[in-house]
Amino acid sequence: MALIRAVRGMKDILPPESGRWQWVEQVAREVFALYGYREMRLPLLERTELFARSIGADTDIVAKEMYTFTDRRGDSLTLRPEATAQVVRAFLENHLEKGAGVKKYFLIGPMFRYERPQKGRYRQFHQINCEALGSDAPELDAEVILLLWDLLSRLGLKTLTLLINSLGCPACQVEFRDKLKAFLFSREGWCPDCLRRREVNPLRVLDCKSQRCRELMQQAPLLRDCLCQACRRHYARTLELLSRFGVEVVEQPRLVRGLDYYTRTAFEVTATGLGAQDAVAGGGRYNGLVRDLGGPDMPGIGFAIGEDRLMEILPAEAVREEERGIFLAALGPAAREKGLDLVQEWRRQGLVAQMDYEDRSLKAQMSLADRLGAKWVVILGDRELAGGQAVLRDMDTGSQESVPLGELNIVLKHKSAIKEGN
Ligand code: HAM
Repeated sequence: MALIRAVRGMKDILPPESGRWQWVEQVAREVFALYGYREMRLPLLERTELFARSIGADTDIVAKEMYTFTDRRGDSLTLRPEATAQVVRAFLENHLEKGAGVKKYFLIGPMFRYERPQKGRYRQFHQINCEALGSDAPELDAEVILLLWDLLSRLGLKTLTLLINSLGCPACQVEFRDKLKAFLFSREGWCPDCLRRREVNPLRVLDCKSQRCRELMQQAPLLRDCLCQACRRHYARTLELLSRFGVEVVEQPRLVRGLDYYTRTAFEVTATGLGAQDAVAGGGRYNGLVRDLGGPDMPGIGFAIGEDRLMEILPAEAVREEERGIFLAALGPAAREKGLDLVQEWRRQGLVAQMDYEDRSLKAQMSLADRLGAKWVVILGDRELAGGQAVLRDMDTGSQESVPLGELNIVLKHKSAIKEGN
């Protein structure tokens, strides 16, 4: 029968690769805890309207890339293409906006966008998301970016570029939109999408992927020149704090990001070696989003790391070694019976332990232990069992010793502790 394959653009994450993912997420959780961010776990499906209203109807995501369907009741639902809108939805629905202080959350999980799959671009991909709601202080902009930077450096990623820009407040954006619109109408040669965009949402032209539009845009006015006093001060203070804490940034006056909700600080982290899809993370402020989704006038800022892309640039040596553990090689029925007891006891004491349940030769079991990456093999034959002993073999050095069965626990615990440096 023909094999059934995974859906195009969606991939299986298998061991040992999944161990790298676990490690990255564990480091992320540790860093989030240091900064006081707590986890939200939210549904993969939301009402379509949530994304249309927040990300923007003219963005590529909403116009072309959503997995939208009608459920049995006739409601239009969408697999989440990003998490910020749903974090805000959950925040408001659960009345978390009450009380003082910045509300800080993280969310780790899959997102879905119907894009053309290529290296670093998938239809199901994974994000590590960070969102902080309730303050417009540039100190919070710096905090969020510092958190991102600390996390990336803990993962051993040092050769990244942080691109930054300020998109201004709605007042700056109105002024810029008018200037940009005038510019867009003063030139010919835009792609069909941009001809439409210049009418309805001129800022989106800045995000067009077509070569010709990009060239034409080189002459376009810059948002930077339309920033009001308050936005200038906010941006300058953010940059000053980043520099104070050692984060090098590259100002990118044409950076706009692919979602409509951004105001003021916007940033992206790019990496060399990823090809065309070189953005590892992106984020920014969204001071109007909570209000647009029916909440109070409450500012917010956040970012998302693309985990799939991160994995491609993760240095191999940065990953913590998986614990290698013990393999019990039992020979003969009585030894196998005793082996079941021993392995279960070790596991309950916190030692990684496995054994084989088939009646294999010692040679076959040793090669299995090797394939599983075991650090120690405990060899137990009926003869050893009768003498109350087992042979303990160190798989790295090949040295063997005879250990009384009653002492195996202690010896193994002691050796594991030495290996872990405790
Ligand atoms: P975004 O720039 O659309 O922002 O996505 C963030 C990151 O997700 C990208 O930098 C990239 O690494 C990864 N990513 C996006 N699309 C794909 C794909 N098709 N395949 C693989 N990786 C992908 C957002 O989603 C915002 N919600 C970020 C944010 C949070 N802003 C404020 N808070």
